[in-house]
Amino acid sequence: MVAPSSLRTFEVLLLVLTILLQIAFHQIEAASAKVEYLPGFDGPLPFYLETGYVGLGETDDDLQVFYYFIKSENDPKNDPLMLWLTGGPGCSSFSGLAYQIGPIKFKIEEYNGSLPNLVLRPQSWTKVSNIIFVDLPFGTGFSYAKDVISHRSDWKLIHHTHQFIRKWFIEHPEFLSNKFYMGADSYSGIPAPAIVQEISNGNDKGLHPWINLQGYLLGNPVTTKKESNDQIPYVHGMGLISDELYLSLQRNCKGEYMDIDSENELCLRDMKYFQKCLSRINMFDILDIYCEDDSLKNNEAMQRRFLTEMPEASLSSYLTVPAMSCQIYGFFLGTQWANDASVRKALHVRGEIGKWERCYTTDFDHEITSSFEFHVNLSAKGYRSLIYSGDHDVEVPFSSTQAWIRALNYSIVDDWRPWLLNGQVAGFTRTYANQMTFATVKGAGHTAPEYKPDEGFAMFSRWLSNVPL
Ligand SMILES: *[C@@H]1O[C@H](CO)[C@@H](O)[C@H](O)[C@H]1NC(C)=O
Ligand SMILES: *[C@@H]1O[C@H](CO)[C@@H](O)[C@H](O)[C@H]1NC(C)=O
Ligand SMILES: *[C@@H]1O[C@H](CO)[C@@H](O)[C@H](O)[C@H]1NC(C)=O
Repeated sequence: MVAPSSLRTFEVLLLVLTILLQIAFHQIEAASAKVEYLPGFDGPLPFYLETGYVGLGETDDDLQVFYYFIKSENDPKNDPLMLWLTGGPGCSSFSGLAYQIGPIKFKIEEYNGSLPNLVLRPQSWTKVSNIIFVDLPFGTGFSYAKDVISHRSDWKLIHHTHQFIRKWFIEHPEFLSNKFYMGADSYSGIPAPAIVQEISNGNDKGLHPWINLQGYLLGNPVTTKKESNDQIPYVHGMGLISDELYLSLQRNCKGEYMDIDSENELCLRDMKYFQKCLSRINMFDILDIYCEDDSLKNNEAMQRRFLTEMPEASLSSYLTVPAMSCQIYGFFLGTQWANDASVRKALHVRGEIGKWERCYTTDFDHEITSSFEFHVNLSAKGYRSLIYSGDHDVEVPFSSTQAWIRALNYSIVDDWRPWLLNGQVAGFTRTYANQMTFATVKGAGHTAPEYKPDEGFAMFSRWLSNVPL
């Protein structure tokens, strides 16, 4: 038997416990919070970082979009605000933050099992702009949903990004007057122009809050999905296949290298030879070393993000550690870092999230075959755009980007010319009517600012402040 007084004590204890639990719960559920320290980075962060979730669903445990927000290190009140969406589809925008345009990067040093270190990137685009790095579609990075797979398609990605940004603004009204830009690269050349169109249409329809949309920038963007057809003239021009093979490919395949008739043996034979020539070429930067990326072969990525238990610490999906001289070594370090419990705590990542993979590209419904028409529509509405190409990328060669821009039929207002940095040619540029600027970044790979940070920063900051490149 329990005496009445101890029953009373028990009740009081239970009440206190419930209140404590509620407080703890609310702390976990806080939508966003400032991050002052990051494991692996020495001392307090010298820039403003906030991370958090924006919920798009009916309940608190569904459709949660994770983002990193970094304020401009210059004048956050007056500098533009950019929403950045890395490609894939399904690569975390942490890729843009840590490897390309954000204020921190991984220190490339030998991995010995302890937490990878972070250092500052002097050419961060956050020196001149506020940037939100968003993890979408669902299942990407630290974003999650109850049923991830049913929320992964081009149009869902577009609508979710649009909903995300309006909700984000409701929580950050102090940024509503800043100029707003959409930034994206690689595969996101497909959804990003449609996202811009959705934001624009939403403004026209009177959706709240109104967004001060100015334009967009895209790096080596997939646009027509015919990019592979441009790879052959490109690699011929770069000296990777012989004149004879190029002539034979043209003769036998008639310019169609993607959808080849299985009876066209001559074309198939030429394609096999072509593939042999390219088999040990780094397609993201033909001058960089070739490294086998076994993280892409691992199907474990497909089982992530289903509100599962935290996985045991492991070498993530990497079966072997890439060589330190490989670009993907940084991806390896990032994967170790993002799966460390102290890092997740610092980033306010919710406990139920499974293993972090840089990219989760499968289980995605590809609905849009070309974003060309969106560009046509957007320029008719007067938005500014910067389309840039790292000119050593085979994945989306600069020539294929030039081809669709040419097909827009815009008149040229500042014709093809070199653009300079410190007296050296950093690339070539051409400006069209309808406020579209095309620029190459000379010697850069698929993600241009990653390979040429000084040039990338100069290009971005000049374009942002309306200065000719
Ligand atoms: C790993 O290397 C770092 C420096 O890069 C060092 O601080 C740390 O003590 C090393 N850890 C182990 C387990 O050797
Ligand atoms: C472009 O705009 C027109 C007119 O508003 C619209 O009918 C069309 O669907 C748009 N194109 C795309 C690809 O959204
Ligand atoms: C560009 O011009 C060509 C030839 O006149 C025409 O067929 C095409 O429809 C035009 N493209 C656009 C986007 O207006």
